[in-house]
Amino acid sequence: MLVGAVVVAAGSGARFGGPKQLCELGGRRIVDHAVDAARATCDAVVVVVPPDADWTVPGIDTVAGGATRSASVRAGLAALGPEIEIVVVHDAARPLADEALFDRVIAGVRGGADGAVPGVPIADTVKQVNAEGMVVGTVPRDELVAVQTPQAFRADVLRAAHAAQPEGTDDAAVVEGSGGRVVVVAGAADNFKITEPADLDRAVEVLARRSVAP
Ligand code: CTP
Ligand code: MG
Repeated sequence: MLVGAVVVAAGSGARFGGPKQLCELGGRRIVDHAVDAARATCDAVVVVVPPDADWTVPGIDTVAGGATRSASVRAGLAALGPEIEIVVVHDAARPLADEALFDRVIAGVRGGADGAVPGVPIADTVKQVNAEGMVVGTVPRDELVAVQTPQAFRADVLRAAHAAQPEGTDDAAVVEGSGGRVVVVAGAADNFKITEPADLDRAVEVLARRSVAP
């Protein structure tokens, strides 16, 4: 089954304070790190860039994104050919996802699931809170995982789930919403999303650690 990757890099980085995907990390842009792992594990890669982008990723097809993450994923999906049977969607803002993680989610779909997503345990206790800031209840933590990208899906399932142009914070939510069966595989603590400036400092530390003990 041919695997295509959609690396979404069309966000504006409002919380970061600018286009974080272009920030330098270990001598390369954050988006280049994210594309590397996709390129090493997938048969085709498309990078979704802001409509007004004046940058590219050498050797990789780019397509203009939309106003929301889900719209950007749809732009990437439209750019992948019909021969692609498994689609991996990855945030450009996660530069520390390694090839083994891509392989795990792809294996989940090859194994028969509609989708496979990386999950990590939640360390903090999680409370449900109402609009007045009052705790309503405590959510049993052993039933929860925090979910990351890369997320792999059967291409036909992902295309069908996106057909009605739904919005979700990830693609698993979109596929779950249309009845798809999504499995969780082991995520990686290092695979955090660069969201705020302090996350970049943390990523520098992880790269330094990897270069000492890969
Ligand atoms: N993304 C995208 N198109 C959008 C919005 C987000 O391709 N319209 C991408 C981002 O570039 C990022 C990933 O989706 O790689 C996850 O989004 P997020 O971390 O929220 O990035 P931004 O939307 O850029 O950041 P912010 O929400 O702080 O503006
Ligand atoms: Mg965003």
